[in-house]
Amino acid sequence: MHGKTVLLIIGGGIAAYKSLDLIRRLGEQGVKSRAILTAAGGAFVTPLSVAALTGETVHSELFSLTDEAQMGHIALSRSADLVVVAPATADLMGKLAAGLANDLASTALLATDKQVLMAPAMNVRMWQSPGVQRSFETLRRDGVLFVGPNDGDMACGELGPGRMAEPMEIVAAIENAFGKKGPLSGLKALVTAGPTQEPMDPVRYIANRSSGKQGYAIAQALAQAGAETVLVSGPVELAPPAGVKLWKVTTAREMLAACESVLPADIAVMTAAVADWRPDIAANSKLKKSTAHSSESKNVVPLLKLVENPDILATLAQHRQRPRLLIGFAAETDNVVENALAKRARKGADWIIANDVSGAVMGGERNQVHLITQNATESWPEMSKSEVGTKLAARIAQAIGGQAA
Ligand code: CTP
Repeated sequence: MHGKTVLLIIGGGIAAYKSLDLIRRLGEQGVKSRAILTAAGGAFVTPLSVAALTGETVHSELFSLTDEAQMGHIALSRSADLVVVAPATADLMGKLAAGLANDLASTALLATDKQVLMAPAMNVRMWQSPGVQRSFETLRRDGVLFVGPNDGDMACGELGPGRMAEPMEIVAAIENAFGKKGPLSGLKALVTAGPTQEPMDPVRYIANRSSGKQGYAIAQALAQAGAETVLVSGPVELAPPAGVKLWKVTTAREMLAACESVLPADIAVMTAAVADWRPDIAANSKLKKSTAHSSESKNVVPLLKLVENPDILATLAQHRQRPRLLIGFAAETDNVVENALAKRARKGADWIIANDVSGAVMGGERNQVHLITQNATESWPEMSKSEVGTKLAARIAQAIGGQAA
């Protein structure tokens, strides 16, 4: 960490006093802090204390003439190696999640090209409110890292999650964000995600309802655990997870070609909902409904002939560069575990994750899965898709941990 710089955004919460200690702790590790103090943050700690500890001017105003003359707010947002928000209030989280910027802190957060780490601090009810939880999920999906909040007594007299992580915990999270080795360091992971689109003509295609959320969450968790991660994704509306190399494809055949060129890989997690079939011919020009150009206009319904797509999971299972741990997904609506067991054997995967997609799983935020390994079937409780990702990364690390495991 020595020689790095952190842009510390101090939001408005009683925990702001701990951020003063954080600056000192970081200084002890040779990390320089540059600070933005929000208007609300300034109600809890003074610019003078922050300036004395950082040894630098404290930035507060978005359109400060003197600050802009020395360093514009965009440059400020990129001047550090990492952006740390401590305390991260409901307001700052909500603004970043929604893409809003009406002060220096929120503008810097939107404008930065650096990894963002947040240490939330707020009343327990606020933390648990659907609005804050929505922001939290959105930010995690966008690749923001979090430390805390911790459980315990709060300044407001209530008990529960909401306390800001302690300064040394934040220092540890910063160390991690700076690339301290994770349990999968030194390993390469391939993840497929999303649907594929199989064209009928230039404007029409066959696809499915996969949102890609589970695959993106897994890729992010693997990257956070230290794996060099390549995500081969069909067309989805999701932001690329932080620290992951994203390879966008459209069809199943493109997805297979992309996966094969990513090999060799140690880990492969195939979450994509690959279209099983494609139209045998993708017309070069738009198929017309009627033969309107003839004198007797008549509607015609094209006969769609489907052919089978390659099975990417099964192909990798037979590949001469077969990944060491090959994990498939089984989206099932009936006899979930039995069908998944059969699928594992049929496709030659090492593990299979079975999920019941008869409910609101596709496109939703939560998932309830069964992990079927060579020796056991574990049924995990329902949790968010990012929690499934984190838990899976931990199980993978247990099975084939890398250098630092
Ligand atoms: N899969 C794949 N290539 C395909 C089809 C599926 O790689 N052409 C992978 C998926 O990414 C997933 C696993 O195979 O990891 C199972 O996908 P699923 O759609 O559940 O299985 P299907 O092969 O479609 O089997 P079925 O139609 O019998 O459910």
